Amino acid sequence: MSDSINLMEAIVSLAKRRGFVFPSSEIYGGLNGFFDYGPLGAELKKNIRDCWWNDMVRRRDDIVGIETSIIMHPKVWQASGHVAGFTDPLVDCKVSKQRFRADQLFFAPVVVDGQTVGYVSALEGDRTAADLQEQAETFKRKKAIQGKLEPVAPRDMTEAKPEEIVLIPSPATGEPGSLTPPRAFNMMFETYVGALRDDSAISYLRPETAQGMFVDFKSVVDTGRVKLPFGIAQIGKSFRNEITPRNFIFRSREFEQMEMEYFLHEDADWAASHREWINWCTDWLRSIGLPDSHLSEYNHPKEKLAFYSKGTTDIMFKYPFGVQELWGVAARGNYDLTQHATASGVPQVIFDEATKKKFTPHVIEPAVGVDRIFLAVLCAGYAEEEVKDDKGNVEKRTVLRLSPRIAPVKVAVLPLLKNKPELVARAQALHRKLQRRYAVFYDEGGAIGRRYRRQDEIGTPWCVTIDFDTIEKDGSFTLRERDSMAQRRIQEPELFALLDEKVY
Ligand code: GAP
Repeated sequence: MSDSINLMEAIVSLAKRRGFVFPSSEIYGGLNGFFDYGPLGAELKKNIRDCWWNDMVRRRDDIVGIETSIIMHPKVWQASGHVAGFTDPLVDCKVSKQRFRADQLFFAPVVVDGQTVGYVSALEGDRTAADLQEQAETFKRKKAIQGKLEPVAPRDMTEAKPEEIVLIPSPATGEPGSLTPPRAFNMMFETYVGALRDDSAISYLRPETAQGMFVDFKSVVDTGRVKLPFGIAQIGKSFRNEITPRNFIFRSREFEQMEMEYFLHEDADWAASHREWINWCTDWLRSIGLPDSHLSEYNHPKEKLAFYSKGTTDIMFKYPFGVQELWGVAARGNYDLTQHATASGVPQVIFDEATKKKFTPHVIEPAVGVDRIFLAVLCAGYAEEEVKDDKGNVEKRTVLRLSPRIAPVKVAVLPLLKNKPELVARAQALHRKLQRRYAVFYDEGGAIGRRYRRQDEIGTPWCVTIDFDTIEKDGSFTLRERDSMAQRRIQEPELFALLDEKVY
């Protein structure tokens, strides 16, 4: 547990220190659930997006990409069910004014010799049950209650009976009597479109990009020369007024999604396609460097699925704060297109040449958050090691083992000495040449070992050092690899070939 906290603290600190992620509006104290991406963060995020777009859209013949507006007609969100049902259960603490998600606030009766003598509560975390058990023991001891304490049986607040709610202590104050019964809280951000500020002008910041694909389905079919099965993909910002944004950028209020709707014939084997997409997504995560040891699958139980859903599998990632959803792959039937057809009056159908009949396609939807991938690659790649410097002294090295595909800087170009114009000129010439195709960094300040360490910390896979052999002998440079720290001589064409192979 403490290791996990330390890892998160180390990552948040590195992210701030090296310009990956800053709190939004920091000079005004920040805004909970909003973040800014600094120079390295913006590069890393762009690389994640570009890899996904290239693999999902450009390198496939069956998927097209679109970009739809963030504010859509309010009827979209009525038809999709978001106005009525995009809610989280919310519990207020009337004393502290804090708000909790009811399904993340756990409680348990304290039972001694078969009798309930009080209640304890705790927020969801790695140790929720253990925490509740410890609280129950403390409760019994403080009240000097004799008898045998039974093991706690935690439930969340959505399961609390009205007569229990008044007895459950607020996690904010430790006292009972201030928690409200859970109520549905709609997570969509409302805004007004146009000059009027009445109900007719209410619209929403989209809570998912997916509806853009459904609403534009007809336009893509009519213009895109697509044939079933085919997909429509999009990357863009989504907004959710999360009750408890937390775990750094894992759950924020403004975030970015990469979603794809894969449309199938109504008689197609949806389960086979669902499985193919789960595998595709897992392979893709591996391709950007996430290790199998951190990935797993979670199948949503049938009884918890929405009525239209045939199955949802989440690809889970082992974050320092627990195993959590990274990528959801849902089989949504033809629910969304049918809803929009009914609400708009515009049929959302495809003509089947074989049967000469029209039908509404079914859909498989892989939906992932860019920010969650960003955090996952930082968590999986971060390491602190003890290494020996040039003089044999042991020192700490912080290294981010990012895949070359997504690393913000691909190569650092380092002249061995900054006061030797011929070294500097050669290094700058190489830097300019590399810069035409890759994000590269030129650094001439400080000892070479220190310059390597600076690049290790931001995940740069390779450094090239221009030394006297470069200008006096065969033109080769030293290539130093981040992970092994091994060094070898390399010629310029070989360097470009290496980059071409690894950065795609
Ligand atoms: N169209 C389906 C959909 O939006 P979702 O499971 O609500 O499904 C998909 O969201 C993905 O978006 C999640 O798996 C997660 O990666 C990301 N995501 C959702 N809410 C998020 C939040 N508040 N902050 C960051 N990422 C989030």
